[in-house]
Amino acid sequence: MKKNLLSPFVFILVGSLLGPGTQAQPTLKDAYQNDFLIGSALKESQFDGDDPKETALIKAQFNSISPANLLKWEAVHPGLDSYNFAPADRYVEFGVENHMFIVGHVLIWHNQTPRWVFQDGQGNPVDRNTLLARMRAHIFAVVGRYKGKIGGWDVVNEALDEGGRLRQSPWFKIIGEDYIAKAFEFAHEADPNAQLYYNDYSLENSSKRLGAIALIQKLRSQGIPVAGVGLQGHYKLNWPSTMQLDQTIEAFAQIGVKVNLTELDMDVLPPATRSQAADITMNFALQAKLNPYTNGLPDSIQQNLAKRYADLFAVLVKHHKDVNRVTFWGVTDADSWLNNWPVRGRTAYPLLFDRNCQPKPAFDAVIQTARSGK
Ligand code: GLA
Repeated sequence: MKKNLLSPFVFILVGSLLGPGTQAQPTLKDAYQNDFLIGSALKESQFDGDDPKETALIKAQFNSISPANLLKWEAVHPGLDSYNFAPADRYVEFGVENHMFIVGHVLIWHNQTPRWVFQDGQGNPVDRNTLLARMRAHIFAVVGRYKGKIGGWDVVNEALDEGGRLRQSPWFKIIGEDYIAKAFEFAHEADPNAQLYYNDYSLENSSKRLGAIALIQKLRSQGIPVAGVGLQGHYKLNWPSTMQLDQTIEAFAQIGVKVNLTELDMDVLPPATRSQAADITMNFALQAKLNPYTNGLPDSIQQNLAKRYADLFAVLVKHHKDVNRVTFWGVTDADSWLNNWPVRGRTAYPLLFDRNCQPKPAFDAVIQTARSGK
């Protein structure tokens, strides 16, 4: 990645020209411009002009965007012969206009994929060739449409179980284990210049990580162009440890793939389950003890969150040569899926900006980590 040694001086110069007390607002993308891209997952109101405050914040802070939902199969390709490209077109347009690195998420996943994809007209499972043909048509239509504009694609999401074995998804059951290789081949054919990623959660746990490493090595030995791995990064205050993150990045770097943190957020709420999996189908009943911060986050937890983000970013900076991008899953705490997962109706605080778009202490901690790492 290009290093720009001048930037800290320019920053100080601009700050001093503005005079005392009017220091230029630091931004995430500037603070990390020598290290990696900083991204955020967007929903439609944030690039459609419905929420000018959030749009301004996104333009100021981020140089990469991911689509929260609008490129998932059920959203972009709801029926066998029907595609809904309008929101995705506007998302891509927003990224192009603002010179951002645009991510595509996601081509092949077992969730948020309509049932018809795997079934014939009678509701029976389709055969391998039919499903491969549907996969190819989908990938060619979607990747092809944004060729040269979407710079990187999450090609396959969550293909592994917690033990690092291939998950028994409909893709696996109908096509067989080469469905992953096929998805990457089709995506590469559709846009040879796009970076292609394997994306998953809990890869910081060694059993799952070993499975991902074996999978990626096997694909690469067959000449399949896997450019990077996405660590989703749905983290908690006590998981993963900084050592686990450090070892994980190191392990993927050693097999020659780049690492992206693709869906970073930090759950500070009491756990509803001991599982570390970010399985979106988990759903536990709401109880008052699971939702303790409805009137604001206590200062002690706010400080823990800030320290935790600083510690994690210190690891990312250490590995800046192997980390290409760090993307937050949402912009402000109000956007976060953690308000509704794995318990619906909670008040969550996982991101760097509060519900009024104001930077939290965690934001300052992340900016400080960039500066002290220089
Ligand atoms: C997974 C998916 C994302 C998103 C999050 C939760 O991590 O990859 O697209 O659905 O769950 O919002």
